[in-house]
Amino acid sequence: MGIDAWVPRIAAPYAPVAVFIPYADQTLEVPIAGTPEEATVPPIPADVIPAVETPAPVPFPQPQPQFVPEPEPPPPILPPVPNPVAMPPPGIPCPHNWDDLAAQVVACTACPLHLTRTQTVFGVGDREARWMFIGEAPGEQEDLQGEPFVGRAGQLLNEMIRAIGLKREEVYIANILKCRPPKNRDPAPEEAAACENYLKAQLALVRPDIIVAVGRIAAQNLLKTATPIGKLRGQVYAYQEIPLVVTFHPAYLLRSQTEKRRAWDDLKLALRTFRQRQQQ
Ligand code: URA
Repeated sequence: MGIDAWVPRIAAPYAPVAVFIPYADQTLEVPIAGTPEEATVPPIPADVIPAVETPAPVPFPQPQPQFVPEPEPPPPILPPVPNPVAMPPPGIPCPHNWDDLAAQVVACTACPLHLTRTQTVFGVGDREARWMFIGEAPGEQEDLQGEPFVGRAGQLLNEMIRAIGLKREEVYIANILKCRPPKNRDPAPEEAAACENYLKAQLALVRPDIIVAVGRIAAQNLLKTATPIGKLRGQVYAYQEIPLVVTFHPAYLLRSQTEKRRAWDDLKLALRTFRQRQQQ
């Protein structure tokens, strides 16, 4: 009976060779006949080969191998967006601890918006959040209450956050501007520039794994571009070396309910990006 055995190269003809016999679980000294080139392993005595049990019949139909989908390739992180806008020089330097930073924002007079604000709107949420949502600027309610996204748009933002499995308190929410522009007009480039270091300092303190730019103004200011939001969506960018995904502003979604499906696509892209970053 032939048995598979690994036979080492033989030093001399007729020398006994130690052969490991699989299944027999022992090593035998066996004489090898012929020259090394011709050497063959003689049959193994039957008494050292244990009886091999007949395998149990395989049930039919056989279980199918489980389908494991190919992992999706990570979305590419794009370089800075073309179509840049001219920005004024960057604003004031900022302290990198929460208390000093918050105190500096409360007392800020870096742009004329301090003259018309009720109060500054610093930011809210978990200061160690993995997700950071960045909006445009405080509106009327935010200016009154001192907290970002507390009006109707804020309710919808909360729902968007819930859709990715998180609560408002588990993310960090901030705005491009810390003060309300009169009549909710768009932030002027000088106002955004004066405020930018506050946001950068908040980002440096939170160190999130992903940023969601909420709306056109946030996206264009963060990416320093005039490209329309429709062209910015669907890609992953980087701001301060953190992946950034663009979605619609909830105030726009309140007016254009049919766009909610596309906003969900953006959040799914953000989720994918976030999960891939967790695996790195
Ligand atoms: N819209 C924003 O972009 N930010 C807010 O805080 C409120 C409304």
